Amino acid sequence: MERLLIEGGHRLEGAVQIVGAKNAALPQLAAALLSPEPLTLTNLPDVADVRSMMTLLEHYGATVLARSGAVTVDAAAVVNREAPYDIVRRMRATILVLGPLLARFGHARVSQPGGCAIGARPVDLHLKALSALGTTIALDGGSIDARAPDGLRGGRILFGSPSVGATETALMAAVLARGETEIMNAAREPEVADLCACLVAMGAEIEGAGTHRILVQGGRALRKARHEILPDRVEAGTYAVAAAITGGQLELTGARLEHLAAVGEALEAAGVRIWPTDRGLMVSRPGRLKGVDITTEPYPGFSTDLQAQFMALMTIADGASMIRETVFENRFMHVPELSRLGANITLQGASAMVRGGAVLRGAPVMATDLRASVSLVLAGLAAQGETVVNRVYHLDRGYECLDKKLVRCGARIQRLRD
Ligand code: EPZ
Repeated sequence: MERLLIEGGHRLEGAVQIVGAKNAALPQLAAALLSPEPLTLTNLPDVADVRSMMTLLEHYGATVLARSGAVTVDAAAVVNREAPYDIVRRMRATILVLGPLLARFGHARVSQPGGCAIGARPVDLHLKALSALGTTIALDGGSIDARAPDGLRGGRILFGSPSVGATETALMAAVLARGETEIMNAAREPEVADLCACLVAMGAEIEGAGTHRILVQGGRALRKARHEILPDRVEAGTYAVAAAITGGQLELTGARLEHLAAVGEALEAAGVRIWPTDRGLMVSRPGRLKGVDITTEPYPGFSTDLQAQFMALMTIADGASMIRETVFENRFMHVPELSRLGANITLQGASAMVRGGAVLRGAPVMATDLRASVSLVLAGLAAQGETVVNRVYHLDRGYECLDKKLVRCGARIQRLRD
């Protein structure tokens, strides 16, 4: 087991290269299963979840060739077998192979993913989407068994509430369904729009990407394709908070401000300066921080994946901040750990009242999920003395070389192995 030893109190200064988005890479790797022609993806992040997805594709018989930042998946010889529970248990995004396998082979079985630290994480909307395209779904022995022996046919999918993953399942299935599919109340996250761009590069016909209504003309033959993954807005937002919480200045090369609008607005209201440069974004915090209220929402609202990071920042701001989490039902696992560092936070249902002005003091803390873990690292950067963040495998699932990138900008961090 590895842990990070952080000596706080050092302002960060320098540049950080923002890598490709994990949450765009995962669905696009799954999309490679749709086609017998190779798909090459560039700008893939080197993180554990992406490596797990590539291992899963090989489990299905696809060949995955990684060469200088590009990965080519050749799924011509895929054998349609079940995704085993031990892979699904480790990574919920495995559910994303269900749509492509069903669309291509008329049948797919995937272990039903359980819940995780941030919530029950049901997949009912994924199954609703597939049913709308002519699929028979059965649940047996903990597995989802999806069948469409005559192939999928286009239809209308109306989501009661937007879901990133379910929209991605709907898109990938619709690409091979006969006829037109209309997806209503689709998720508008940039990663969904990037999946659409990848599918179009593969030969699909899609309009409305990034809007709440997407139309797919299915049944087109898919071709060999190449696509560049968009930059990771969550990684960018995380380093923006790192600059702000240490009173430093970081240039986030490759970051796009338009993907961080709601987060950027909240940071500016808190006293952080953000401006575009010809290489990406500059983030600086010259003066004092102010408490700001936020509510997480589906895109383009404030990203739930940056809630924990923003909360860490608010613990040292002047005044109070009310933080409401509306996307997941249990995404405050970082609160008791931040409190161990001296933060003053009161939980009430889906809201956290952060009473700012804390003087954070280093202590051993426990990582629980990807974004909660990084909020503890951020708080450790500002805390007096040493903070030890345990179970950093959570971090490595979604952040590429986080500790090395921070050390290059002036942080004092050691990665210790038990
Ligand atoms: C994606 O998860 C991301 N993961 C999450 O990032 C992100 O937090 C989330 O979208 C919201 O933006 C990947 O893209 C791999 P949802 P996803 O379906 O697709 C409920 C990270 O830290 N729901 O948009 O699972 C669900 O429980 C991760 O990088 C259903 O009820 O999220 C949640 O309350 C964490 N039924 C809400 O919808 C369903 O069938 C939004 O979930 C599906 C979802």
